[in-house]
This record gives sequence, C-alpha cells and structure tokens, in this order.
Amino acid sequence: MSIKNILQKDNFTRDDIIALLSADNPADIELIRNKAEQILLDRCGSKVFYRGLIEFSNGCVCDCHYCGIRKSNHTVKRFMLTKEEIISAAKWCADKGYGSVVLQSGERNDPAFVDFVEDAIMQIKNATISQNLPKGVGITLSIGEQSLKTCERFFKAGAHRYLLRIETSSPKLFNSIHSSTQNLQSRINAIKNLKQANFQAGTGVMIGLPGQTSNDLADDILLFKELDVDMIGMGPYIPHKDTPMNIHSEYFNLNKDKIFQTSLLMIAVCRLVLKDVNIASTTALQAIRDDGREMGLRYGANVMMPQVTPVNVRRDYLLYEGKPCLDESSEELRQGLDLRIRSLGRQVAIDEWGDSKHYKNNKG
Ligand code: 5AD
Repeated sequence: MSIKNILQKDNFTRDDIIALLSADNPADIELIRNKAEQILLDRCGSKVFYRGLIEFSNGCVCDCHYCGIRKSNHTVKRFMLTKEEIISAAKWCADKGYGSVVLQSGERNDPAFVDFVEDAIMQIKNATISQNLPKGVGITLSIGEQSLKTCERFFKAGAHRYLLRIETSSPKLFNSIHSSTQNLQSRINAIKNLKQANFQAGTGVMIGLPGQTSNDLADDILLFKELDVDMIGMGPYIPHKDTPMNIHSEYFNLNKDKIFQTSLLMIAVCRLVLKDVNIASTTALQAIRDDGREMGLRYGANVMMPQVTPVNVRRDYLLYEGKPCLDESSEELRQGLDLRIRSLGRQVAIDEWGDSKHYKNNKG
C-alpha cells in the first residue's frame, strides 16, 4: 500500500507503522509530516508549551551504557542544587509565564533523596502561586523508577506529571544497553505505578541505537499505546566518550542524517497513532541540527523544555556529547526559542500548565 493510502486510515496496523517509519523519499516524508501537523492542530491546537528544565542533580545509582552521568563515570563532578537554587529557577519560570517546570536528575530512591524532592515540590508550589498561576507552576518529575508509595508522596506534594522513558520496547536491546540490575519489566511496572498514583505519565525511547530496527520502533509506538501514556519524549541516541557504548560512535557519525530523519518520523507517527498526547521536541534533536527542535514541532510535537539549570553546573549534566545550550543564560535561550517558534507560525502558551489532552479526554 502506498504511504498516501496508509495515511487515509484512522487506525494503523503494525505493518502500516513500519511502512511509515521506513519512508525515505522526500515526497512521502512530507505527506507524513503534513498529516501529523494537521492532527496536532486539530486535536491539540497550535500552542507550544514550555516546561523549564531544572537539572538539579547528576547523582545516579544506574549504570546505563549510553549515559554520560552513569554511576561508573568517575570523571563526572557530582552536584546537587540547593533547594533555594531550585526554587529560584522555578520562580524565574513562573515570572516568565512558563506555566510548568520539569525537575530532572539521575536516578535515586534513598529516603534522603525522596524527602528532598518531596519538600522541593511543596516549596516550589508555595513560591509560585500568583494571580496568573493560582495553583503555582505545574511540576513534572523525571527522576527515575520509584515505588508506588514514593509516587503517591510526590503526587500528594503537588507534582502531577512524570517522565520515565522505557528507552526501547525490545527486551533484548534493553538488556544490551543497560547493566544487569535493570530490566524492561521493572521500568514498565514503574510507569504503571505512576498511573496508579494519578500522574500524567510520559515515556519515550532513544532512536538510532546500534542494532535497533524499524520493527523495534514500531513496537515502541505500539507499547506507548498499550501503556496508554499521556506524554512522549524521544530523541536520537548520541554517543558520549566516557561510556561503554562509545565503541559505536562511528555508527552514529556515519548515520547521523538518517537517525535525525527517523527521529522526526517517530514524532510524526506517534502523533498519527496516539493523536492527543503531548509530544516533546527534545534537546537531543538540536544536538544533531541547529534547527532540530523547530523541526520536531513541524513534525507534530507541542512541548519544549528550555533549560533553566544554573549555567555553572550545566556542563556537569552531559548525558551525551555536543549537548547544545550550555552557555546561554535562561533568558537568552527563552528569547531564541520564542523567535524560532513564532517563525513557524505557532505561539508560545503563557501561564498555562499545558496538560496532556489525552489525560483529560480519558478522565472525561
Ligand atoms: N543520547 C541520547 N539520549 C540520552 N539519554 C541518556 N543518555 C543519552 C544519550 N547518550 C536520555 C535517556 C534518558 C533521558 C533522561 O536522557 O533516554 O531517559
């Protein structure tokens, strides 16, 4: 079946999804992009929602083979922002109309860390209540796998969205890029905990992992659907020199353009299949191409996460090499993104949480 015919359907089979993700002629790719953009505008509107990204600690108990802040990377200078620094970044976001923040860190689940995060959530809420934001900024967490009890505490403290990527839906590929202490099922269970605790749950994968096929990527999308998640964040896998997977850096260098294009197609096909979820256009896209994040928006994404991490620690939060936006102030990054978004004919939402329509539609 031609791409044009597949795009006329409302429900896609696994084979349809594989065909869409494998499209490689510019005319077909443009048909897919255009349809994804149309579904985005119909189902979610044209607004782009900002979440100020506060990378508050690079301490991590995991040893993922791809990640620059993995536990065994002893060249990393470990840091943890103070609560005052975190709150001041969140207040800056509220003042600029961002509406939401993401608290991201390496994975930790010890009691001291859980207490710290719980208290930070409550303090951010208190510090950001205003006439424009009567319930304070929306808080998304991205701090790894947690127990149901911990999820419930974080939700009660005032966080209401949580990102936890599965990285890949293939158990074999998952095992090949993680240490033996981690497994896909436990990641999936952690997403179920989030949903049970009433979080809007987000997940995602890395694209261009060595050995990953279009079939794997199609299965990723089908798993997103099965898990019934509200938000998606995906981006290309990019090597980091101090990690075991750096042996594949040649693969990345040779296939960069293709990996970039596939990443955009993943955004578009997620939009076509999942329809009303929030989809982030991630920084990793911009690591390959300067206009990568705008391209993500054109392919159906509606969320951006501008960094508001203090500049003095940004270099210590290098998940991959060539990470952009390390030196610009939060204000410079904001102005740059605003311009880029307006140039696409889209608007930045002001003082809105920008919750996933999917979550609202599900809850009635
Ligand atoms: N390249 C791209 N993305 C990465 N992440 C971690 N390391 C890399 C890398 N080398 C992503 C993972 C993780 C998220 C916080 O960052 O998908 O879930």
